[in-house]
Amino acid sequence: MFKFLKKKIKGGGSSSDRYLKLKIKEVRKETEDTNTLIFEQPEQGFTYLPGQFLTLILPIQNEKIRRSYSLCTSPHTDACPSITVKRVNTGLVSNYLNDHMKPGDEFEVMTAAGHFVPELNPENKKKYVFFAAGSGITPIMSIIKSVLAVEQQSSIHLVYQNRSESAVIFKEELRRLKEAYPGRFDQIDVLSQAQGDWQGYSGRLDGAMTSDILMDIAGNKVNGSEYYLCGPAAFMQTVYDVLMDFDVPARQVHKESFFADNAAARKETPLEAGTGDEAHLVHIILDGEEFEVNVPANKSILEAALDQHIDMPFSCQSGLCTACRGKLLEGDVEMSDDDGLSQEELRQGYILNCVSKPTGPGVKIEIG
Ligand SMILES: Cc1cc2nc3c(=O)[nH]c(=O)nc-3n(C[C@H](O)[C@H](O)[C@H](O)COP(=O)(O)OP(=O)(O)OC[C@H]3O[C@@H](n4cnc5c(N)ncnc54)[C@H](O)[C@@H]3O)c2cc1C
Ligand code: FES
Repeated sequence: MFKFLKKKIKGGGSSSDRYLKLKIKEVRKETEDTNTLIFEQPEQGFTYLPGQFLTLILPIQNEKIRRSYSLCTSPHTDACPSITVKRVNTGLVSNYLNDHMKPGDEFEVMTAAGHFVPELNPENKKKYVFFAAGSGITPIMSIIKSVLAVEQQSSIHLVYQNRSESAVIFKEELRRLKEAYPGRFDQIDVLSQAQGDWQGYSGRLDGAMTSDILMDIAGNKVNGSEYYLCGPAAFMQTVYDVLMDFDVPARQVHKESFFADNAAARKETPLEAGTGDEAHLVHIILDGEEFEVNVPANKSILEAALDQHIDMPFSCQSGLCTACRGKLLEGDVEMSDDDGLSQEELRQGYILNCVSKPTGPGVKIEIG
């Protein structure tokens, strides 16, 4: 297999701009099954926005394995970028990172990406409500610290679902934030397996509990707040449905998915053949070069490009992380899942190459 380079385009970036090495400075235990990896600031600098994630590229079992992890630190308040990783039962990378990482270890990452990012402005006077479950707190932690630092007139409510008090990630740091920002930051814990004399919400967050909490927080102004949701798909759907019942405009609701309930099933099932069973030639503009990729009917554009050894950005390969995002410049594609993109991104013509295939000839996509 070879990559078919059609032409070089003046002024494009280079693929090396997308990768950097990060060295671990410290490993901090958060809970029984969760560690934070604190990185040294790389010499060449490292920029990211609150809520973005890194894609780690790890050599495990003679393969280069990619997984995304949100930065839990704030570029406005934290000197060193960090990620927090919770073990997933039988999970390859989450257990590897929790078991083997130590100070001095270095690995490759893709530069920060993602669109679960607030538009911060010191003049803003907003009410933010965050709904997190388990490890879903990580991008939300980054956003909370950033809002508190940058928007002096905005206030925050965090609704945080966990199994038990001991499973609460960033417990101490959240307590310190509450003390440091009285009246601007408030946390409501929901414990599914509460023990002892727990006085707060207990059980799984359902529609009725979500409504009660929202009424407590905002009374009759639920639709005036900005909402950020991160947790399992069912958790986010519950909250989203309630917000829609309260007539919250969809543009005020932002979601980040870590894991698609059907991701495993999707990987085992090749993309269905779409309109016709033909292969189509797709033009891909990447880092200032234009490639021609022959995409068979049963493959996504990303898979076909990787088969041709084109250094495409990607991570989850299931339409979640948006690392493979591209702008459709010409032609038509069929996307099997567009949940990862906002309405605005869809309107602007963005697609996710890992879940897209061409429906005819003449498709041109610019990556980025
Ligand atoms: C944008 C983005 C940001 C993310 N940020 C974080 C983060 O900050 N912290 C963090 O801990 N994780 C985060 N994740 C999830 C992370 O990328 C991995 O999916 C997770 O660590 C599991 O990887 P693994 O290799 O251990 O499991 P795998 O070996 O990939 O999977 C093992 C088994 O667990 C199932 N599984 C995989 N992930 C989950 C899950 N999250 N919940 C339930 N079952 C699962 C799989 O279907 C499979 O059966 C993020 C994911 C995305 C897309
Ligand atoms: S690789 Fe994650 S959305 Fe395509």
